[in-house]
Amino acid sequence: MKALVLCGGSGTRLRPFSYSMPKQLMPVANRPVVEHVLENIRALGVDDVGVIVGDRAPEISALLGDGSRLGLRITYIPQEQPLGLAHCVSLARDFLGDDDFVMYLGDNMLPQGVADAAEEFRRLRPQAQVVVHKVPDPRAFGVAEVDPDGRVTRLVEKPERPRTDLALTGVYFFTPAIHRAIAKIEPSARGELEITDAIQQLVTDGATVRAREYTGYWKDTGRVEDVLDCNRELLTAVRRDVAGQVDAESVLIGQVVVEPGASVVCSRIVGPAIVGAGSVVAHSEVGPYTSIGRDCRLTDTRVDHSIVLDGASVSKVPSLRGSLIGRSAAVSSADGGVLHHRLVVGDHTQVEVAA
Ligand code: G1P
Repeated sequence: MKALVLCGGSGTRLRPFSYSMPKQLMPVANRPVVEHVLENIRALGVDDVGVIVGDRAPEISALLGDGSRLGLRITYIPQEQPLGLAHCVSLARDFLGDDDFVMYLGDNMLPQGVADAAEEFRRLRPQAQVVVHKVPDPRAFGVAEVDPDGRVTRLVEKPERPRTDLALTGVYFFTPAIHRAIAKIEPSARGELEITDAIQQLVTDGATVRAREYTGYWKDTGRVEDVLDCNRELLTAVRRDVAGQVDAESVLIGQVVVEPGASVVCSRIVGPAIVGAGSVVAHSEVGPYTSIGRDCRLTDTRVDHSIVLDGASVSKVPSLRGSLIGRSAAVSSADGGVLHHRLVVGDHTQVEVAA
């Protein structure tokens, strides 16, 4: 089995971050989302991976290289325009050949893994198998109707009135039958070749399509709130590991990671939390549920339920919560009783100040 990982798309819902980085590189628990994805693929015993890349190809290939660091062989497949998930499969036709493959959206987090679904696909080998997850409101997703034996009877992309609560996650298992189905479909109302329509085509043509329910935590990390939520979820699983320097005046409580070369001075870190390599936290309180990237500087600051990306600095900010601070960004409060907020805010940035 091969894998096809989709890392194209413009990430408009993740602005302003997606102006300067592909959304698949957003760190969750200090590791880019796409690395979590590739780790799950490796866990299935799959090492031959095609990665679809759009105009952010250079950043993705700079991070992943030939894949050997992750125990994989990566082939990059360029997609010039985001014309849909099924379009990605047709672009990868040469890479995929006539092999079965797992298709995995590069922004989807399923930390409990998809080993059960892969095992079922290999054992029963339906023409296609989708991985579904129950959600309270599935209108933003593909929605599956499934019979009691686990066979899919109908699939609809983003229905206004969903007939079930089973959303399609971004993980699919295919046999080469999917290529013939894709050849038969037309672009949707949003102008894209939808993979949901291609799978529905298989159902219409009488092929066996199965659904496997994933009951763990699932997030499509499309929006800032999703990234923060996902970070909280992943941090609950980190184990205490203090490799960096912590001075005698500091206190670490619970699951705290201090990476090598980080230093914690006169501070309190409440787990779950990570302080990334080379970062300095001084006279501050960090956590819970907070990831500090590499080479950050936190001084006289309190921050919780947040992510601070590499190279950012935060100084003299009495309380930050639910915040996502971009790479090399600087957040500070002015000296000397200044009563006004001074903001230099980029396009599509969201700022909430204390009233
Ligand atoms: C895509 C699929 C949708 C699926 C979702 C999962 O949606 O079209 O069926 O439920 O991914 O993340 P998109 O992110 O393109 O809106």
